[in-house]
Parts: sequence; structure tokens; C-alpha cells
Amino acid sequence: MNICHVVGARPNFMKAAPVLRALRPYAAVEQFVVHTGQHYDFNMSDVFFQQLEMPPPDVNLQVGSGSHAQQTAEIMSRFEPVVLEHRPDLVLVYGDVNSTVAAALVCAKLGIALGHVEAGLRAFDRTMPEEINRLLTDQMADLLFTPSEDGNANLAREGVSREKIHLVGNVMIDTLVRMLPAARQAIAADLPERFVLVTLHRPSNVDDPKWLGDLLEALAAIGQQIPVLFPVHPRTRQQIESRGKLHANLPGIRLLEPLPYLEFLGLQTRAAVVVTDSGGIQEETTFLGVPCLTVRENTERPITVTTGTNLLVGRDLQKLRAEVGRVLSGNAKHGCVPPLWDGHAAGRIAAVIAGKATGATSRG
Ligand code: UD1
Repeated sequence: MNICHVVGARPNFMKAAPVLRALRPYAAVEQFVVHTGQHYDFNMSDVFFQQLEMPPPDVNLQVGSGSHAQQTAEIMSRFEPVVLEHRPDLVLVYGDVNSTVAAALVCAKLGIALGHVEAGLRAFDRTMPEEINRLLTDQMADLLFTPSEDGNANLAREGVSREKIHLVGNVMIDTLVRMLPAARQAIAADLPERFVLVTLHRPSNVDDPKWLGDLLEALAAIGQQIPVLFPVHPRTRQQIESRGKLHANLPGIRLLEPLPYLEFLGLQTRAAVVVTDSGGIQEETTFLGVPCLTVRENTERPITVTTGTNLLVGRDLQKLRAEVGRVLSGNAKHGCVPPLWDGHAAGRIAAVIAGKATGATSRG
């Protein structure tokens, strides 16, 4: 069985790494990796391959940046000939980025079997580009690997037949569990005793200059009480720079380059609280038991709120500041780790796929 993994953007790499590893022992499985090139900076891509000990991609489509339509179309037209040449038996796509839906569309058109890792997540917010990517990819997939029960319920509601759906747990946590000892070693010696860790990159937070300015001011106010460390995504950096705010008016906020996986995970383990709009970081903080304040109105990962340490602060900056204050005064929300977020999700995915390859009945 020949399996093609498609990755493209930063959050894909830590999801694909454990699946590649888990499939390796199966003699009947051959695999290759296609990188779309959606993310291309060293800090957004290559360093993840190095740290996660992933082999370099077999094919790089080098699509780069563009509008959503351009990027998606470019990935499709460059991925199609790769599929036609290699004729994989199964293509695995990850998460909800443009690379995910673009590769899925190519497979659907060519009649190639498609597996979606991290299926079924829904924010019920179609203004998010990722929500469209999730909905469409799940409609096209033949195998849907969900991280939590809510994913199964969402897919059932959308009419996806039960036998395609496999509740396997969270592959991102597989990587976290494996890398945690190394991440603790990667913690910089000069780190402040207590700090707030921030990441922001969603269009809803960074594309509107007024809102981004208000958000940065709220963070600067928090920075008067406790150091704020903020590794800045390239899209956010462009927006901050275009406002001339990068070096001015932000005392208390330490702006950093995007960090490699280990260094960022190390920071999460030591943060007093994390303020973010990322999806994956909501999950990582829940696993680590670190309080997380999500600057969004909704989340496609509700289990991090109902079970974990995550709290949605929406667009309420008073609430953001009050909740940071609550954490700093020792009254943080506590949480538990969701079922099957145990470091073995990729093994369960590999067992399902290998079961298909040999014709055996799959578990799941
Ligand atoms: C993408 C995903 C988002 C994910 C995020 C993680 C989609 C729709 N969005 O958003 O779900 O949470 O990745 O990072 O797929 N850029 C660089 N260097 C790079 C990559 C991007 O400078 O290596 C800049 C470019 O100016 C680009 C902008 O960042 O236009 C945005 O990149 P893009 O891949 O379009 O979306 P992200 O915001 O990274």
C-alpha cells in the first residue's frame, strides 16, 4: 500500500510526524511526503522537520503565499501531476489549512482514497477560512480520524457514514508527549520567573488595524504587571510593522521571531498563562494543565473549554485583563486531559490503515 502524506503549513508538521512514524513498522506500507510549500520560511517549516526528526519531503510543490484562491488553485494544479505519477492508494491530509482542502479536492476528482487526520472539528463560524476547509475536506474523505467525541457527533450530523469515522484521539499530543523531555531542555536560561505567553495570527485578530491596536494596548497594559513574551507570526508582523508599532509604544511586550517547536513547547510548560488564537495551542495547554485564554468568540475545540484549561474571552479586552489577573492571583481554571489524548493516537490510525491494507476488519 502506497501512502502519500500532504503537509503545507506549520501546524501540519507535528500532526504528520507521529503518523509517519507509526506506519513505518508495517511491511505492507510504503509512504512519501509532499510539502505544498504553503509555509516556506526556515522558522515556519524546515526547523520543524529537523526537530521532529521527519525525513525531508520527497516532493516540494513550492507554492508560497497568495490569496486563498490563488494558493488553493496553485496547490491543486501542482499536486495533481504528483498524484498521477505516483498513484498512491491513500492520501492523508492533516488539520484545516488551505493545503488540506486543496489536496483533498485533487484526490476527490481523481478517485484516490483520502484520509483526514483531525476530522470533525467545527467552530460553527463560516467566516473562518479553516471552517470551510474542514467542512469540505470531511465531505470528501473516505477515512475520518477524529480527536474527540464532539467530532464524531458533528460528522454524524452532516451525514458522514459511521463506518468511515474512527475516534483515535489527538495526534498533536503524540508529538507533545514524545518531545516534552527535549522541550524542557530547550528552555532558555534567561527566562523570567513568571510570564504571559502570547500568539496571535488569525485574520479576525490581526487584519483589522483598530482591533489589533486595541489588543496590543491591552497586552502592553498586562506587560506592566508581568513580562509578556510574544513570538510573532509573519502575517502578524506585517500588520504590526505597517502600523509602525513594532518598536514603539509596546513596553512590557517582548516581540520574538516565530519559535521552533521545542523552544515554544518549553515556553508553554513554564508560562503562567497563554493568550492565543491558535487551535493547536488550546489543545497543548489543556494537556499541560496551563491556563489558556483564547481571543476568539468560538472554538472548533470545545473539549478544551468543557474539559480542559481553556477559556474563550472573545473580543472583550476587559475580560482578557480580568482573567489574566485572576490567574496571577492564583485562581486559574483547572482542567483534565480529554480521553485518548494519551500519546498513542497515531498508532490507532496506523492500525486502522493497516487493517484496510490487509483486508482485516478495522477497530475504531
Ligand atoms: C495558515 C493557516 C492557519 C494556521 C496557520 C499557522 C490557512 C487558511 N491558514 O495561516 O489555519 O493556523 O497557517 O501558522 O491555511 N508567510 C511568511 N512566511 C511563511 C508563511 C507565510 O512570511 O513561511 C506570510 C506571507 O506573507 C503570507 C502570510 O504569512 O501571505 C500568511 O500565510 P498563509 O499560509 O496564507 O496563512 P497563515 O496566516 O500562515
